[in-house]
Parts: sequence; structure tokens; C-alpha cells
Amino acid sequence: MIGTKEKEQLIETLSSHSKERKNLIPLLQEIQAKLGYLPKEVMQEIANFLGIPEVEVYGVATFYNQFRFLPLGKHYIRVCLGTACHLAGGKLILEALERELGIKVGETSEDGEFSLERVACVGCCMLAPVMIAGDNIYPKMTPFKVEEALIPYKQESKKESSNEGKLGNTSKA
Ligand code: FES
Repeated sequence: MIGTKEKEQLIETLSSHSKERKNLIPLLQEIQAKLGYLPKEVMQEIANFLGIPEVEVYGVATFYNQFRFLPLGKHYIRVCLGTACHLAGGKLILEALERELGIKVGETSEDGEFSLERVACVGCCMLAPVMIAGDNIYPKMTPFKVEEALIPYKQESKKESSNEGKLGNTSKA
């Protein structure tokens, strides 16, 4: 179930488009940009809005790998596999991240902390191979640098979960 804020964003996006089938992909893109993913409920709303079968919306959305159907983790880690990064060993960076995070590319960790994806050229080929975490770009990565690069994100997650634990204890007292 999406929340009130997400519903408002959905209505706002739908109302800025005409009810034509050609708007299906732009709607999917805009809504994903706002919500971070495409919940089931949203797909149903888009189908209703455009007057097309829900299965058609799913068919289009699942055809393109730019669309996500689960929320992103708190830390969104991407590896560039554009030509320059690929040639400089981007795939090895991706494999090191998969090992380090315990998830495969395209997945989110069970605790919702990390998502891992591959992306096309991000425009800084001179720094290849690059990893991106949130807004930070990590240049000239090697598989050995992966563990170190993830430390602040893992520490942040640990700190937050221990704070939640403390709050939980306080509220029980
Ligand atoms: S190919 Fe990776 S930044 Fe251009």
C-alpha cells in the first residue's frame, strides 16, 4: 500500500498527462523517479487512467530493465559498465560488491539497506572504473577498494539499527 504522499504524487503525475496509450512509458518513468519504484497499486492506477489492461502495463514495465518493482535500499550502489569502465574492470568491481553485500546485481538486501545495480556511462570515463554510492563517485576502483568504500555506509546502517534498538528498549520501559 502506498502512503498519502505517494498517492498525491501519483495523482499529480497522472493529471499532467492526457489519457493516451503513448503516455504509458513517460508515466512509468516519472512515477518511478518520484517514488523510487513502481508499486503494484500504481500499475493498476496507470492501467485505469489509460483505459488499458493491467497486464499490458506490466508487460511494458517488465520489458525494460530501467523499471523497478521493489523499493530501493537506503544505500543505492551502482557500478558503471559503460565501455571505458567495462574495459577497465568494471565487472570485477560489480562481482566484488556482490560478494561484499551478499546480493546480486538488481537486488536489495533483506534488511533494506543496500541495492546494487549496473548503469551505463555516467560521464566520467577518465576515472574508470567508477562506482557510485548515493551522490558520491568512487574513481578508479579496484576490487580491493570495495570493502573500504562500503565501510561508512555499513557503519551508518549499524549505528541506526542500534539507535532503533535503544529507542525500542526505552519505549518498552
Ligand atoms: S564508461 Fe563509465 S563513466 Fe563512462
